[in-house]
Amino acid sequence: MSWQTILITGGTGYIWSHAAVAFAQAGHTVVLLDNLSNSSRQTLDGIEKILGYRPDFHCIDLRNQAALDTLFAQYTFDGVIHFAGLKAVGWSCEQAGLYFENNINGTINLLNTMERHKVKSLVFSSSCTVYGTPQYTPVDEQHPLGETTNPYGRTKALLEKILADYATFAWFTVVNLRYFNPIGAHPSGHIGEHIQGPPPNLLPYIFKVATGELPHINVFGTDYPTPDGSCIRDYIDINDLVDGHLKAWKYIKGHFCKDASHASRQEWSRTAINLGIGQGTSVLEIIKLVEQITKQPIPAIVAPRRAGDIAAIYANADLAQKLLWWKATTPVEESIRTGLLLFQKMVREKYNETTKQ
Ligand code: UD1
Repeated sequence: MSWQTILITGGTGYIWSHAAVAFAQAGHTVVLLDNLSNSSRQTLDGIEKILGYRPDFHCIDLRNQAALDTLFAQYTFDGVIHFAGLKAVGWSCEQAGLYFENNINGTINLLNTMERHKVKSLVFSSSCTVYGTPQYTPVDEQHPLGETTNPYGRTKALLEKILADYATFAWFTVVNLRYFNPIGAHPSGHIGEHIQGPPPNLLPYIFKVATGELPHINVFGTDYPTPDGSCIRDYIDINDLVDGHLKAWKYIKGHFCKDASHASRQEWSRTAINLGIGQGTSVLEIIKLVEQITKQPIPAIVAPRRAGDIAAIYANADLAQKLLWWKATTPVEESIRTGLLLFQKMVREKYNETTKQ
């Protein structure tokens, strides 16, 4: 596969910044787009430290049609890796309208701009949340798409369906990657998760407790039908996850066939692949692992269940192995360790900056 020019939306966020580095290191030209609503320009400094140069970055909101058109006129993109979107399960229950407006309208604007500029390859950042409350675990891609339990999940499920129509009727080539719970950080320690305000996700919250910034972690429910009563998730390392994107990109480019029949396009348009480690870990087990790594207790308080949560989900990732030759290999402990190291580094840098002023 030759080097290509790829637009990465959400380019300064957590997963997206790791993807930017991985695609650039694989020899592609990456162009980053983000509205910086939940990320920071600082991430670009980290990307630059790793790559030795700063990829082109455009501060654009996907809902801004005119700005998107100008961008697509400026470059000849070979395709798009689309991550941009709001992504917190709990917050989405409080701000459903914002989630629909941002995630759905933004993506439709992007797709229509791609179509106008004849850019038709897309890797979409979907989520295991589309399975709703699983009928069985581990979930494979044959599992029926469930009634989603929160507006964030609804946006992902709707977008997968909308993308299937773009694939079938507008000749887009799409792979939906259904992530489980990404954690960890780049081994360089230069990029990771930057959180503005109280973190919605488990690991960043625990890290803030471990470094003394927050007093305790609320465990949202210990009365679930799981062995220790807390929720079970599939925590996949961020570096494994972006490797899955690189392989999905190769897969898309290797399989695109212009004269495929309508029927086979419909088949193609349903391509959705789980990216998970295939192992379930409970919230209480995660807390224990952090305690072992930091050699200090993590104060935890049992809190009521969080709206929109399900008891347990983890992946059957066999399809990824079969189609993409991909398998997650990083143990959860290792991902927690790299995530925590980066978090501690960010805390030190912030402290040094404030004491300098
Ligand atoms: C969800 C999606 C996941 C997606 C992620 C993006 C599902 C099943 N998973 O993850 O695919 O990548 O959103 O944000 O929809 N918890 C606490 N205390 C806290 C925070 C979290 O107990 O302070 C618990 C939650 O109740 C949950 C687990 O930790 O059981 C993980 O929560 P979180 O990190 O927010 O991710 P999900 O909501 O599982």
